[in-house]
Amino acid sequence: MGRVYNFSAGPAVLPEEVLKEAAEEMLDYKGTGMSVMEMSHRSKAFQEILDDAEADLRELLHIPDNYKVLFLQGGAHQQFAMIPMNLMKHKVADYIVTGQWAKRAYQEAQKYGKANKIASSEDKTFSYIPDCSDLPVSDDADYVYICENNTIYGTKFKTLPNTKGKLLVADVSSCFLSEPMDVSKYGVIYGGVQKNVGPAGMVITIIREDLITEDVLPGTPTMLTYKTHADAGSLYNTPNCYCIYMCGKVFKWLKKQGGLEAMKQYNEKKAKILYDFLDGSALFQGTVVPKDRSLMNVPFVTGNDELDARFIKEAAAQGFVNLKGHRSVGGMRASIYNAMPIEGVEKLVEFMKKFEEENR
Ligand SMILES: Cc1ncc(COP(=O)(O)O)c(C=O)c1O
Repeated sequence: MGRVYNFSAGPAVLPEEVLKEAAEEMLDYKGTGMSVMEMSHRSKAFQEILDDAEADLRELLHIPDNYKVLFLQGGAHQQFAMIPMNLMKHKVADYIVTGQWAKRAYQEAQKYGKANKIASSEDKTFSYIPDCSDLPVSDDADYVYICENNTIYGTKFKTLPNTKGKLLVADVSSCFLSEPMDVSKYGVIYGGVQKNVGPAGMVITIIREDLITEDVLPGTPTMLTYKTHADAGSLYNTPNCYCIYMCGKVFKWLKKQGGLEAMKQYNEKKAKILYDFLDGSALFQGTVVPKDRSLMNVPFVTGNDELDARFIKEAAAQGFVNLKGHRSVGGMRASIYNAMPIEGVEKLVEFMKKFEEENR
């Protein structure tokens, strides 16, 4: 089998062009005579890779000058702890729990202070985004936390919550760079890159400068203090050099596609093909309230576990892989990140139609 259509939720599909470029540069990166994997993070060649990556990301997201970009390790899970450790000055924070990842973050924050769950959609297996226009935001909350796109459940905040003047912190792991964002509306934005941006092993945090201080919770390790990394330009310790290099290539690829506005249009067109089919299908159903549907993660079911399992197996044999849904939802999930070509979704829908005809 050649390259498959990979619908994995993460680590996930990367642009083929980027992979080919990386392959070409594997043994000799731009005349340095070595791979980026072998290069000192203090070298001039690597500093250029890092600087370019940051500059391109700033351009793509129109990141204001008073925000820092940090390339960190420890994944999104580490941010679940770093956020309260660095931001919970009054030891109070409000969490909107719209899925398993938001719940993990909420649970982690409880270790450091009073984390309040001010809204949740757990009553209906996280299949919708609660109304966040008038929530009981705590007077002394240091921030309000959301997971903007819920990878497992396939929901997305289409409007940001009314935080009543409090700082907004968002986990954007699974919608990062899928469409434009107004960075100035957030205090902190972070995303694990292994879904829409690059290989696993790094998280990018975009944080407003005034939030980067030495005034962190007592006992916060040096490595978990944002100031450490901001002051060192993400080079306090050895970073994930190869991942930064790959993300930088993806940023350049995104710029070539026309930037995030163009990506949004492409992603909308792509997701519509699948959602339109699900809406008309007598066999498959989407599991999310239509107005809250994600452009990136599309869960669906037949309602029959055996049939779901057969579908996943037959789809894989045809080159449509990693369609199994998360164990907490069951059924299927197609993750259709930036790098999934529209043909991948068109062909998947063709296959679903055929499967439906054969199994009516
Ligand atoms: C939205 C979201 N947040 C957090 C995580 C956890 O990321 P990590 O494994 O990088 O800690 C994931 C997926 O793995 C995710 O989809």
